[in-house]
Amino acid sequence: MSELQKFYIRTYGCQMNELDSEVMVGILEGRGLTRCEEEQEADLLIFNTCSVRDLAERKVMGKLGKLGRAKKKEALIGVTGCMANAKKDALFQKLPHINFILGTNNIHDLNAVLDDILSTKKQIIHTEDQFYSELDYLRAKRDNKVSAHVSIIRGCDKYCTYCVVPYTRGPEVSRSPDSIIEECRHLVANGYKEVTLLGQNVNSFGKDQPGWGCLFHDLLYQLDKIEGLERIRFMTSHPVDITRELMEAIRDLKSVCEFVHFPLQAGSNRILKKMHRSYTVEQYLEKVELLRALVPHVSLGTDIIVGFPSETEEEFQQTYDLMKQIEYSVGFLFAYSPRKGTPAMRWTDDIPEEVKQERLQRLLALHEEITAKQRHALLGTEVEVLIERRNSKDQTYLKGLTRCWKSVLVPGDDSMIGTLQTVTIHSYNHQTLLGTIGSRGL
Ligand code: SAH
Ligand code: SF4
Ligand code: F3S
Repeated sequence: MSELQKFYIRTYGCQMNELDSEVMVGILEGRGLTRCEEEQEADLLIFNTCSVRDLAERKVMGKLGKLGRAKKKEALIGVTGCMANAKKDALFQKLPHINFILGTNNIHDLNAVLDDILSTKKQIIHTEDQFYSELDYLRAKRDNKVSAHVSIIRGCDKYCTYCVVPYTRGPEVSRSPDSIIEECRHLVANGYKEVTLLGQNVNSFGKDQPGWGCLFHDLLYQLDKIEGLERIRFMTSHPVDITRELMEAIRDLKSVCEFVHFPLQAGSNRILKKMHRSYTVEQYLEKVELLRALVPHVSLGTDIIVGFPSETEEEFQQTYDLMKQIEYSVGFLFAYSPRKGTPAMRWTDDIPEEVKQERLQRLLALHEEITAKQRHALLGTEVEVLIERRNSKDQTYLKGLTRCWKSVLVPGDDSMIGTLQTVTIHSYNHQTLLGTIGSRGL
């Protein structure tokens, strides 16, 4: 094939991967390609993959294995993202029909890799372990026109024993404050009202670059000054690194939303130690208490893993009790999945799948009970909603988010997209709140 015209891209995994896909879309459109939604139409197919749990990898392997019939005969196939770094050239052995593998730290090589393939027709792999160069994030092409993800730190130095991310994304590398500010200004100039600052641990921002004299809370103070940037969110916060200064920034800065994704992972000190989370339940609770004292209406999010090797029923119960006590408004709950190359592989995955699933179901039920209570408490109240788009299912509604990350549907016209609205909540449907624009008095 001499010329590429259409590309298809599919993203798995977290927001970081979504943002990387948006950058790749920008690079490919800059090269003159157009995006298509049908695999059969594409001259180039990119699968931006995730390795965090076995299921995530199996989905991609299944998809790629079956792709032969569902694509143009000559189409090029690329695997990018975390699986590229986790499996490297072993992917060529398992999937001989793929043309290139591009790691999480090599996105900027995309054009060069395509040029090489088109001229040499050989399989190509670029998977560096560390992120070196600044990516040109200004190229990112986003579907959402109101709220944008902005990367502030890549990689992770925490080495939780169960997690592949330090190996698939490499060590922590902060992005320069100037470049972040420039991108946020550029986004605001293009109509964006909200940014979500991304990092595996945003609280580590700036620590690898002491010369900058700019830690995470300092960055928030600088971004808050950008005129027209209505809301700033961030994720994720490792509990060890959340500081009083950060909590005060959430309290004092108008644009910073009162929501902290603050993963607990487990409620037993023995398991936390084995996970290498480097905090105890008591230290975690102290931070939650301080945060709630400083920012009374703050909402908390968490990630939890059940069925970590050797987790007893009593230890699981401690996780359950803490979830009940803390009342998170957002919870991502997972069954432990052993990952090759991680330290936890030295322990037998000894919790039977049925037990993991049963613990997971109990936690999910508890979480549902808590969030239902929270939704109920919102009935009749007024919330601030940033209207992002028309709802895809029932098109009479617009869709937006509260400051605390709750989805809200309201009837309204397109002119409201991209505006902040006061919404009175009157009911809810599953997780989604339903409301009307305006105060109760209006
Ligand atoms: N950097 C983020 C999380 C990145 S991965 C943080 O530390 O909070 C997202 C979540 O996936 C983790 O928080 C963890 O709960 C879960 N996870 C990671 N590895 C896992 C594994 N091997 N099995 C099950 N869940 C896992
Ligand atoms: Fe993984 Fe832990 Fe790093 Fe999060 S902090 S990405 S869970 S190693
Ligand atoms: Fe994200 Fe999955 Fe990689 S969660 S960092 S895409 S392993």
